[in-house]
Amino acid sequence: MTVCNKELALKEAKRVVGYIESEALTKEQKDTIVKDSIANFNENVNPGWLEYRKSVSTDAAFVEWTDSLDHFEDLYGTQFIDCLGGFGIFTAGHRNPAILKTVKAQLDKYALHSQELLDPLRGYLAKLTAMITPGDLQYCFFTNGGAEAVEMALKLARLATGGRWYISTTGAFHGKSMGAISMGGKGAYREDYTPMIQQVQHVEYGNADAMETAIKNLQTVGEKVAGVIIEPIQGEAGVIIPPAGYLKAVRAICDKYGVAMICDEIQTGMGRTGTMFRCEVEDITPDIMTYGKAFGGGIMPITGIIARPCMWVDKLIENPWILGSPTFGGNPLACSAAISTIAYMLENDIPGMAKEKGDYIMGKLEELKKKYPTVLKEYRGAGLLICMEFPEAEVGYAVTKGLFDRHVMVAGTLVNAKTVRIEPPAVLTYESIDKVVKCLDESIADAKKEFKL
Ligand SMILES: Cc1ncc(COP(=O)(O)O)c(C=O)c1O
Repeated sequence: MTVCNKELALKEAKRVVGYIESEALTKEQKDTIVKDSIANFNENVNPGWLEYRKSVSTDAAFVEWTDSLDHFEDLYGTQFIDCLGGFGIFTAGHRNPAILKTVKAQLDKYALHSQELLDPLRGYLAKLTAMITPGDLQYCFFTNGGAEAVEMALKLARLATGGRWYISTTGAFHGKSMGAISMGGKGAYREDYTPMIQQVQHVEYGNADAMETAIKNLQTVGEKVAGVIIEPIQGEAGVIIPPAGYLKAVRAICDKYGVAMICDEIQTGMGRTGTMFRCEVEDITPDIMTYGKAFGGGIMPITGIIARPCMWVDKLIENPWILGSPTFGGNPLACSAAISTIAYMLENDIPGMAKEKGDYIMGKLEELKKKYPTVLKEYRGAGLLICMEFPEAEVGYAVTKGLFDRHVMVAGTLVNAKTVRIEPPAVLTYESIDKVVKCLDESIADAKKEFKL
């Protein structure tokens, strides 16, 4: 047990501040940080965390300390090529120098806002977000995490339509707050928390007819549906790409029944899948769109929603805080990162880069699939949201571990363990991609031998 002792806490905090501010740690200090980290996680974070990490990294002693563009580095300078991308955060790379420069400049002015004066960066970012999102999407509300943005989207759908019900999809992942998890498609994350939002029906993902039937039936029995929430590609379910025309069909259904269409672009947005936002592929404009992850340029956490004017009802204009009033939502430091990220992504065509490199990687996966058909069963993706499918979860873990041993970081998905994701920064060099492919070839060969496939 960690006892309450403020004198000791002061000493401890000063020691850690010293580590953070140090230009060069000694070997002894590094060893201490490793030892401390293991003890602190076990005693004050969650002992299960280290066990979970060990399943892939074997050695819990890898303590991350710095990063740059396409890699992480541990305390001792071991580099890992990042093909996980923080589950989509690092599209513009790690500490991208252009974005970092902007954030540092803002940090030297003011970091957080007064909560009373007009903070200009929030306004500029809202305008820019409207300029890079489809159609007449116009009003922004900024939040700090993805699930929080989803909460806002769900609340706005009820506020704007007067409906109570939501339609979500099987396999969906929208975060783990109470509202978001009510929409989720995995029992394990829901069971312990029932009752949650009661008025939710899940329909098969990719099946627009099932969605229409659910809405029609609810309306027939006198219920009113507020919103439909969908990921344009399901990320955590294992990169599930719906049939072409699905988003268009859902858009038409929402129009027909007066239901708000919510597109959750938290993972697919900001260039990840080869266009700035995935819903551009079907040329549709959702009523409400969420974004996050890469929005802060891999430097600051910032998420949010953008909605069409028809969603921004009088009630919300009369009381702008009725939707929410997060203390840190849209703070200047986070906004500076997002504004700089938008500039960087447009100037360097990050969506185009994601498409080109994604196609290159999938070309290599095709070759590996032909070479190891019993191990690499399938791959699929769009841009740099790619996944590989293995026959069993154990095989997926073995390949992931093999890659980790070769200092390439990938990971499974939250909903589907035998599916391994490749979600690197778009700034990953072709040289690094070729290195990753070579490591993948070796890891698959090892798994083939180990599992006699
Ligand atoms: C589509 C989607 N929505 C929402 C979330 C939740 O975001 P956060 O983990 O920031 O709450 C995620 C996270 O993976 C996501 O992929």
